[in-house]
Amino acid sequence: MHAIQVEDLTKVYANDTLALEKVNLTINAGDFFALLGANGAGKTTMIGIITGIVMKTKGKVHIFQYDIDRNFAEARKMIGVVPQEFNFNIFEKAQDILITQAGYFGIDRSEAIKRSEVVLKQLGLWEKRNEVSRNLSGGMKRRLMISRALVHNPKLLILDEPTAGVDVELRHGMWDYLRKLNEQGVTILLTTHYLEEVEQMCRYAAIIKNGQIIKHDKVSSLVQLLEMEAYEFTVKDMHGLDKIKKYHPSVRDANVFEVELHRNNELNDFICQVHKVGMEIIDIRPKGYRLEKLFLNIMRE
Ligand SMILES: Nc1ncnc2c1ncn2[C@@H]1O[C@H](COP(=O)(O)OP(=O)(O)O)[C@@H](O)[C@H]1O
Ligand SMILES: [Mg+2]
Repeated sequence: MHAIQVEDLTKVYANDTLALEKVNLTINAGDFFALLGANGAGKTTMIGIITGIVMKTKGKVHIFQYDIDRNFAEARKMIGVVPQEFNFNIFEKAQDILITQAGYFGIDRSEAIKRSEVVLKQLGLWEKRNEVSRNLSGGMKRRLMISRALVHNPKLLILDEPTAGVDVELRHGMWDYLRKLNEQGVTILLTTHYLEEVEQMCRYAAIIKNGQIIKHDKVSSLVQLLEMEAYEFTVKDMHGLDKIKKYHPSVRDANVFEVELHRNNELNDFICQVHKVGMEIIDIRPKGYRLEKLFLNIMRE
């Protein structure tokens, strides 16, 4: 079962900005997924479309089995969303904010009161239930946003840059909480530009750049790629290439091939192998790994 299925999604804003270009992305139910990308890459636009705040230009979006064009209300009920910026009524009390939100999803008042108590307690805000939101600290506001997103028991929680400007302690508390939610079966999609968080928290990640998904893989595989380096070997002749096939060399020229090797330990072994099969090395050049450059660009905002 897919929690999110995005097909050929394109968004052109009124000022002709192409924010998303034919994006395809599938996120499985139960996943803990990161959408990684620099400022302006298209993350918030994507979330906006999924949650019905932004109108798409083209493409299809399914949330669980619901097509957002045909069944928006049902699709929306599946989703809890924590936006990038605080956006609640600053004069409303914490618990009332949750009760109002539950009302949007058709939950009756007595049920809403019960639900709000459960989530406020889970996020350590029960003591603050009668406080107007503007009197809460930044960290509490952040937690209030999460509790509001969860008040209708969504199966999918989407968080847009949840840890931007959040201190370390709160960040870790939040990770623990999200992990628990995920273990209970809630699918989590978050956007971030912190690679470290992705490594620690997420199972799958996609990298978005200029409105296109340029990489989508298991986080463990992405991290492994980061530890690989590409080398270009120039050799006298290529006759022994077949015998080093297990390194997956790619031929670049009549006497040039490229291999990707583990940065620290594989190069020496590989050179020995090349000698062993009788190829004479003329030149070795590290090419630097493309993905790493990609990440650097992404981080560099
Ligand atoms: N309402 C809007 N009108 C016009 N352009 C927009 C609007 N919102 C976002 N954009 C542009 O769309 C692109 C993607 O933005 P956004 O989805 O906010 O990226 P991210 O969340 O990854 O930082 C950017 O070029 C941004 O300037
Ligand atoms: Mg954004």
